Amino acid sequence: MQNKGKQLLAVWGSSNSGKTVTAIKLAKALSNRKKNVMLILCDDICPVLPSVYKSKDTVEISLGEVLSAPNITQEVILRNCLTLDKNPYLSVLGYKAGENPFSYAEYNKERAIDLFVLLRHIVDYVVIDCSSILTENIISTAALEVADEVLRLGSCDLKSISYFKSILPLISDSKFDAEKHLKVLSHVRQFQNSEEYRNAFSGVSYSLPYVRSLEEQCETLALFEDLTDKGATEYEAAIKEIIKEAFGDE
Ligand SMILES: Nc1ncnc2c1ncn2[C@@H]1O[C@H](COP(=O)(O)OP(=O)(O)O)[C@@H](O)[C@H]1O
Ligand SMILES: [Mg+2]
Repeated sequence: MQNKGKQLLAVWGSSNSGKTVTAIKLAKALSNRKKNVMLILCDDICPVLPSVYKSKDTVEISLGEVLSAPNITQEVILRNCLTLDKNPYLSVLGYKAGENPFSYAEYNKERAIDLFVLLRHIVDYVVIDCSSILTENIISTAALEVADEVLRLGSCDLKSISYFKSILPLISDSKFDAEKHLKVLSHVRQFQNSEEYRNAFSGVSYSLPYVRSLEEQCETLALFEDLTDKGATEYEAAIKEIIKEAFGDE
């Protein structure tokens, strides 16, 4: 177990900007370092795992159990995370099918921070797929506050611009260090005028191209599989660069 350098990456941005897809691909690429990675899927309005992962058995575990446990312990975390059959280095904590924000007792920000502190001790890297709706999702807001790096995803559409204009004032407090976010323009299609959006988001460091096979992976619940086609080369290279910037070299 390493306990130095950067460990916690929050992936945040406008809705449909590719937060979940990118968080999964980053977590997967990190697990190739043969270090333990925990992927946290924060969305409690539309639980993510049932829409991205085909499981042999019904998933009966939940992030909700962890956040509402009397004490968050290593045992509680391990009991509630899913380890992928094909990848022993990658575990996932998320809400299960059918749950909603009322499924568990309310928790506070300190609770969420306790979870992150403990995770720093039990895994090497944590990737947090945040909700866009910060006002309703305490763990996502806590992640933006305590993560070592925040990846901020926007897409080439006016809704994305509108989202940031509204939400950025909510995280203007210095504890969020919003000016340090690593900005990414996501699923950019060839016909899109990405330059215009780069200007609108000012200071974009990375661009993740639209990849057809990736969209197919989304539709077939295969995001935890590798992308093997040539069309994904540029995408994979960008993921590697982001990992290098967020966590340093291996
Ligand atoms: N790089 C990409 N290439 C192709 N499609 C993508 C890419 N990133 C995201 N998508 C598409 O966008 C949709 C929304 O992505 P998702 O990660 O669920 O967004 P978010 O979590 O931000 O709401 C996906 O279902 C997928 O179809
Ligand atoms: Mg999502």
